[in-house]
Amino acid sequence: MRVGVHSGHQGSQWHYFDDEDLQAVKAVLDAGALGTISPSPPLQALEKDFCDTFGSPYAMGVVNAMAGLHSAVAAAGAGAGDEVVVDSLVGFGGIAATFNNAIPVFADVRRDTHTMDPESLRSRLSERTKAVIVTQLWGLIADMDEIMAIAKQHNLMVIEDCAHAIFAQYNGKYAGAIGDIGVFSFQESKQLGTGEGGMILYKDPEVGKRLEQMITFGTMPERIALNYRITAVMAAIAGVQFKRTPGYVDICIRSAEHYNAAVADTDLIEAQVTPPGRVHTYHLWAATYEGDAKGLPMDDFIKVCEEKGFSCMWRYIQKAPYLYDVFQQPVAFGRGCPMQCPLRLRDVSYTPGLCPNAEDIMSKLLLVWTGGDPDAHKVAADNLRAAIEAVS
Ligand SMILES: Cc1ncc(COP(=O)(O)O)c(C=O)c1O
Repeated sequence: MRVGVHSGHQGSQWHYFDDEDLQAVKAVLDAGALGTISPSPPLQALEKDFCDTFGSPYAMGVVNAMAGLHSAVAAAGAGAGDEVVVDSLVGFGGIAATFNNAIPVFADVRRDTHTMDPESLRSRLSERTKAVIVTQLWGLIADMDEIMAIAKQHNLMVIEDCAHAIFAQYNGKYAGAIGDIGVFSFQESKQLGTGEGGMILYKDPEVGKRLEQMITFGTMPERIALNYRITAVMAAIAGVQFKRTPGYVDICIRSAEHYNAAVADTDLIEAQVTPPGRVHTYHLWAATYEGDAKGLPMDDFIKVCEEKGFSCMWRYIQKAPYLYDVFQQPVAFGRGCPMQCPLRLRDVSYTPGLCPNAEDIMSKLLLVWTGGDPDAHKVAADNLRAAIEAVS
């Protein structure tokens, strides 16, 4: 199944639910098997769909992507005193590492693609690094050839955070099936959006055993675990929605193309760059505002955009995740854990300037949700274009 405007797959309607979804839910209710602690046909079918479609030997459903990332870090064997390299434009990987009592080490991103810079990753490694969580950010897959080569050289587990990147491609490979573990989110804003839910792809059955220990136990767990099972109803709806997801992705790509066209011939806005060989699925359209250096402050531009009827998420979370208290203090477990753990090899920095590209991007970022109606996005992109023209 291929996606993209030139694939012949033309999505026409965003996130719709109909009789097919109802029938799938009814089948679960009729069977009276709502959970997945025992083998669950809708979950098994969904896991098979993910494996077959994305070319992965194994898949395991999970209640959401954060639970999946938490479990993935545990499966990588990272704990007290260990380090996990994570992205610096989003906080999810850093939280997943911290929640395992491991130390998150933030790597910078590439200025053009917004994805993890392999050279920064290399510079962050220590003999305690167990894993790297690579976010396939906004729907674009990072430089995986380089990242996989570094990981192989240093014996690291590669965890792909694919919450934004279902059906994204990199040299013909799908997001989630490139690294050792790939984690997807079904949170409602995502292209496959069932409210909650998620999926993990993995290659090694031993990793699968450790993931399973994290995700489900009956009475006493084999290791510290919380039960992160997806329900059968969620899996059944996801099974129907999975088939529609290429159409939803296609809508996002078509919508993003309106914004790319709107900024194509201005140097006020720099859209995220998609290198050759990749299919960007545009869960979000991302760009940076470059007017400040030209004497056109961003806050003035935001006002003009508002007047022209263009709105978006300006500056996302406002500052790099490592500048938040949860990492700075750290407030995670109190008493300085895990960053000041006596088992640590070294002190890791969370200071301003740590990831200059991420900090620069964050201070100038525009993010647009691309779901919904592509015609409405065409109007919004025209409004953005009008704002650019008004200040140019
Ligand atoms: C990049 C990324 N990773 C992980 C998550 C967490 O997903 P979930 O809400 O399924 O836990 C999100 C949610 O927005 C996300 O954007």
